[in-house]
Amino acid sequence: MDSQCRRFENKVVFVTGAAKGIGFAIATAFAKEGAILAVNDISEENLRNALSMIRQYSPSSVSYRADITKSNEVAKMVDKIEKDFQSIDILINNAGIALPTGFLNISEQEWDRVMSVNLKGAFLVSQRVISLMIRTKRKGKVVMMGSLSGKMGGVATGMHYSVSKGGLIVMARQMAREFASSGINVNAVAPSFADTDMLKDLKLETKKDELAKMNVIPRLATPDDIANAVLFLSADGSSFITGETINVAGGRLMD
Ligand SMILES: NC(=O)c1ccc[n+]([C@@H]2O[C@H](COP(=O)([O-])OP(=O)(O)OC[C@H]3O[C@@H](n4cnc5c(N)ncnc54)[C@H](O)[C@@H]3O)[C@@H](O)[C@H]2O)c1
Repeated sequence: MDSQCRRFENKVVFVTGAAKGIGFAIATAFAKEGAILAVNDISEENLRNALSMIRQYSPSSVSYRADITKSNEVAKMVDKIEKDFQSIDILINNAGIALPTGFLNISEQEWDRVMSVNLKGAFLVSQRVISLMIRTKRKGKVVMMGSLSGKMGGVATGMHYSVSKGGLIVMARQMAREFASSGINVNAVAPSFADTDMLKDLKLETKKDELAKMNVIPRLATPDDIANAVLFLSADGSSFITGETINVAGGRLMD
C-alpha cells in the first residue's frame, strides 16, 4: 500500500482475534493507513506482542484481552473502548476457530464450542458495538470474517465450522437490512485457505500444494490478500455496498 494512502486517519477500528494470523494482518494494514486500533484476543501473551508491533504504526492503539464468547467480558471490553476512544468507527469480527472433525464424530460439546466462538461471539460483539455506533455517531462499518466453506461446504473443515461461517454471511445480510437507516454498512469476506496457524489446527500443513491447486490462481491466500478486501469494505469509497460477501479465493468460487 502506498505510504501516502491513509484512508483511515484517526478512525477507531476494533478487530477481534487480532493477536496473530489474518486478524493481525488486518489490524496492521489499518494502522499503516492512519487508524487507531482497539485489538482484542483471548491470548494475553500473543496480544502483547501484536500490540507492540501495531504501535510502530499507530502509537495510540490499545489491546483488550477478552473471550468473545462471554457476554460479561464483551460488555466490559466495549465499555472500556468507549471510555478510551468515545466510539468505534469500524468493527472487524475476525476471531474464529476451525476443527476438521467429520460430521459423524462431532460431539455436542465441540459443536457448541465452534458455534460459540464463530457465531455467538460475533453476535455479542456486534450487538454492543452497533449500539455504541448508533448512540454516538449514527455511522459505521462492520465486516464479518466468513469463509468459502460457508457458501460451498467445507473440504477440510468440519460441518460446524462451515455452518458457522454461513451463519456469519447471513448475519451480515440481516444486519445490513436492520442498520442501513442508521448509517451502518455490514459486509463479509469469504476467503479460501490462507497460510496461517489455522492450517495446523486443520492438520493441513503438509497439503498446502494440493489446497493451492483448488484455486484458479494456484496459490494460498495471504493474510494481506484478505486484509486488502476488508479495508476496501471499511473505506468510505464502498459506502454503497452493504449485505455483500466478497470471495477472496483466487477464483475458486465465482458467484
Ligand atoms: N486460515 C484460513 O485458511 C482461513 C480461511 C477462511 C477464513 N478464515 C477465518 O479467518 C479468521 C482468522 O483466522 P486465522 O487463520 O488468522 O486463525 P488464527 O488461529 O491464526 O487466529 C485466530 C485468532 O482468534 C483468536 N481467538 C480464538 N478464540 C477467541 C475468543 N474466544 N475470543 C477472542 N479471540 C479468540 C485466537 O487466539 C487467534 O489469535 C477466522 O475467523 C477464520 O475462520 C481463515
